[in-house]
Amino acid sequence: MTKAKPLIAGNWKMNGLRAEAVALAEAAAAAAAASDACEVAVFPPFTALDAVAGVLAGSPVALGGQDCHEAEAGAYTSCISAAMLADLGCRYVILGHSERRHGRRETSETVYDKARAAFRAGLIPIVCVGETRAQRIRGLGDDAVVDQVFGSVPYAEGPMMLAYEPVWAIGTGKAATVEDIARMHDILGGVLDALERDCEGSPILYGGSVSPDNAADILAADGVSGLLIGGASLDAQAFGEIIRAAG
Ligand code: 13P
Repeated sequence: MTKAKPLIAGNWKMNGLRAEAVALAEAAAAAAAASDACEVAVFPPFTALDAVAGVLAGSPVALGGQDCHEAEAGAYTSCISAAMLADLGCRYVILGHSERRHGRRETSETVYDKARAAFRAGLIPIVCVGETRAQRIRGLGDDAVVDQVFGSVPYAEGPMMLAYEPVWAIGTGKAATVEDIARMHDILGGVLDALERDCEGSPILYGGSVSPDNAADILAADGVSGLLIGGASLDAQAFGEIIRAAG
């Protein structure tokens, strides 16, 4: 069986006014059009989704939201539903990012409900998991990550992805080693099997201080189906280099 193309995903987090987002999206579209070795997706802030959707129309770059609410609609001031994201042309939604799990105290139960809402709207959830530095130091990292997957991933309901993002590697400039990544992706593959999700159907991305310098090595690691990139995805040149590294 031929291996699916890796997904190179840029999570812009809370960065970019519309003009900056449009410029970044144009650069990503140009880089993606020049490389057919990978799939590319960008995750602008909600306020820039519509403008970026306009730029990406007809390009190979997919659009995604950074979160959604678990309910379909209702009295939830400030929140965005999965259907609203789909309506804007999103294909993916990131759920359970550590900046929500740890920064906003979001539980795995909430992530699970959000993933089900994403399926109902026809979106592909990218469920993020990852251990903190303290859990890792105390030898509790593997259990923490496995617990997050069991708690956050609905049983065989639709196509989804996992993203292994060790919290200590996010935004620190210190990516996990290729050995650590391959080991954790192997564990995660086993958990997905237990949830009756085959790994071809449920790709596992790595995120945490991915850069043009380490992207090719990480992508070559066993079990890695793509990259979820924060800081480097805000630099059009760096993001383009990562897309080219996937070739
Ligand atoms: P950095 O690439 O900035 O470490 O962020 C990773 C991340 O959080 C992607 O979701």
